[in-house]
Amino acid sequence: MRKTILWFCVTVFSAIIVFAAGQNPPRAEKGEQIMNEACMSCHDFRPIDTQAQDKDGWTKLVKTMIDKGANVSTEDTPVLVEYLVKKHGPLPNGAGKKILLETCTLCHDLGRVREHSGTREEWEGLLVHMMGEGAPLADEDFEVLLNYLARNFGPR
Ligand code: HEC
Ligand code: HEC
Repeated sequence: MRKTILWFCVTVFSAIIVFAAGQNPPRAEKGEQIMNEACMSCHDFRPIDTQAQDKDGWTKLVKTMIDKGANVSTEDTPVLVEYLVKKHGPLPNGAGKKILLETCTLCHDLGRVREHSGTREEWEGLLVHMMGEGAPLADEDFEVLLNYLARNFGPR
């Protein structure tokens, strides 16, 4: 009797796993998967992490990469572009943007920064905190980045 129940549980459980595996992954995960498969053979993620592009910008960049040899199918392209825009979308121009892209994407993606908002004092505290975590922010860049963050990501 116990054995039958166990067998039944195992069977149902395996069926669930098979069923789940057969499901299409959510679109964002699919985009990430395409990137992992198509964008890592020639370079690492740094060139992607240090970009901030809108839909047009990413569409052009992905096309350039396909011309270079990246293997992305026509149907996967919009899914990948959507994912890239979500994770590495456009940033306001201005002094500080380059510092942000180069220094603040070393440990986490830009999303982390973009979702944050605060007063100048709060951003200042956060930058000091990030330097404590190990962010290599040069003295001369500190003020420039702080101004940029306070101006563009102020309190909501
Ligand atoms: C066949 C090799 C190859 C593959 C695969 C590849 N890339 Fe590249 N990628 C390059 C090369 C080479 C450069 C440097 C180009 C240059 O200096 O102009 C580059 C540069 C870049 C840059 C920086 C561009 C700039 O203007 O600074 C980005 C962003 C980028 N790749 C994104 C991607 C994405 C997204 C994918 C996946 C769809 C991808 N790459 C796949 C070869 C590749
Ligand atoms: C050396 C690694 C590292 C670098 C570089 C780095 N961070 Fe972080 N960051 C972290 C860690 C770890 C956390 C999560 C721990 C925490 O919140 O204390 C974090 C969290 C954050 C958060 C979320 C904080 C919250 O309270 O939700 C923001 C915003 C942020 N970082 C912004 C930045 C900015 C801006 C830069 C560029 C100056 C930067 N980070 C560079 C390591 C880093």
